[in-house]
Amino acid sequence: MFKKEVYTERRNRLMKKMSDGIILIPGHPDSPMNAPANTFHFRQNSSFLYFFGLDFPGLAGAIDINSGENIVFGDDVTMDDIIWMGPQPSMKDRCAQVGITDSRSYNQLFDYIKKAVDQGRKVHFLPQYRAENQLLLEALTGIKATEVNRYQSVELIKSVVALRSIKDEYEIQEIKKATDVGYDMHVTAMKMAMPGVWEQKIAGTIEGIAVAGGGMLSFPVILSQNGQTLHNHDHSLTLKEGRLMLCDAGAETGMHYASDFTRTIPVGGKFSQKQKDIYNIVLAANNNATAMAKPGIRYFDVHLEAARTLAAGLKELGIMKGDPVEAARTGAYALFQPHGLGHMMGLDVHDMEDIGENYVGYDDDTKRSEIFGLAGLRLGRHLQPGFVLTNEPGCYFIPELIDKWEEEKKFADFINYDKVREYIDFGGVRLEDDLLITDKGCELIGKRIPITVEEVESTMNA
Ligand code: GLY
Ligand code: MN
Repeated sequence: MFKKEVYTERRNRLMKKMSDGIILIPGHPDSPMNAPANTFHFRQNSSFLYFFGLDFPGLAGAIDINSGENIVFGDDVTMDDIIWMGPQPSMKDRCAQVGITDSRSYNQLFDYIKKAVDQGRKVHFLPQYRAENQLLLEALTGIKATEVNRYQSVELIKSVVALRSIKDEYEIQEIKKATDVGYDMHVTAMKMAMPGVWEQKIAGTIEGIAVAGGGMLSFPVILSQNGQTLHNHDHSLTLKEGRLMLCDAGAETGMHYASDFTRTIPVGGKFSQKQKDIYNIVLAANNNATAMAKPGIRYFDVHLEAARTLAAGLKELGIMKGDPVEAARTGAYALFQPHGLGHMMGLDVHDMEDIGENYVGYDDDTKRSEIFGLAGLRLGRHLQPGFVLTNEPGCYFIPELIDKWEEEKKFADFINYDKVREYIDFGGVRLEDDLLITDKGCELIGKRIPITVEEVESTMNA
């Protein structure tokens, strides 16, 4: 937990941004896995964590914008709880740690919101993605659970996005810890990636490193020789010499700040020339993006530059043709990279995605493209100092997509389909780093995981 002033300051800044009414931020309840008492690992709601800091189930936070009242609703443990969980601090003491002096029993939340509604006051809440909290809002406000998100507060969403987008020094330190664990995860994966090893063995080992680092994974490990499937959670194959293994994985610290890295490595430790050719194009796209990312620039334009680099590199190999700038602008490159260059990262790996991707990644002068590939970009808006984001270009040969585009003669002026066929079983390459936007430019967070062909080969063969 950060010191209590951090949370008080965040709530004060939130109040200043809002006009009037009540802000309601429910925490998460426990969620049963296969029986009520056998629950999924508890994960607190990130906006609740940001403003109220308390990391256990059964809480809701409220802020009265007009009176300045800050309240946490939650119950002290019972003797039965103590028998099973051990002694726990009182709600009063826990709330004091986050600068809250007004803690009330959870049941009082119902009267509190009812009174506000009866008085015709606005109750602001964020989009709810957990069914339990949609049901809670139904019980509190009378709005049907399935309709609750139609009443989300855009004023609150925009205010929360404005605050959470700029990471302070304490948050950056936490993210740095997550990147340190991520470094160990990826270097371990590199060293294990030898022919005959089961993918699941590597995925499980690096998950263990994340947990041993004090937290957990920031998302389920993506690790496969079929790296052309963007989010491949199937780890059932045995590694084979001559194939690439793509590993996209990161850690979440005990305070729930994320890292998110991708590396692609040659099984056995030696890239073929064909693999190197594609790999170095993706690496150039990654390096160009890092060189460009700075305050004021739109990440959309950084994405376009990475796409141009990809198209230019593929043109040199005879896979693409035409003007690489046009290939980027029109979306012709997207056959090879159907996803965006990156996303915000913080308390969530895709930071704040739950409260609205377009509010987080776009603004009034940067609207989301509708072109396939460009539309996949989660973050397009002007960068600001304090933003933390990912830079993750890729190049994939997705047989089903290639078949479809070729049949449709899509972008035939830009794509040499005959040449593409020579790469049909290539797989995919993605290279992802985590960036902090500084006053003048950007910096990589943490030590860079081996990334050049030479660094990867020497790490794997050490
Ligand atoms: N690392 C997973 C993703 O960014 O979607
Ligand atoms: Mn990512």
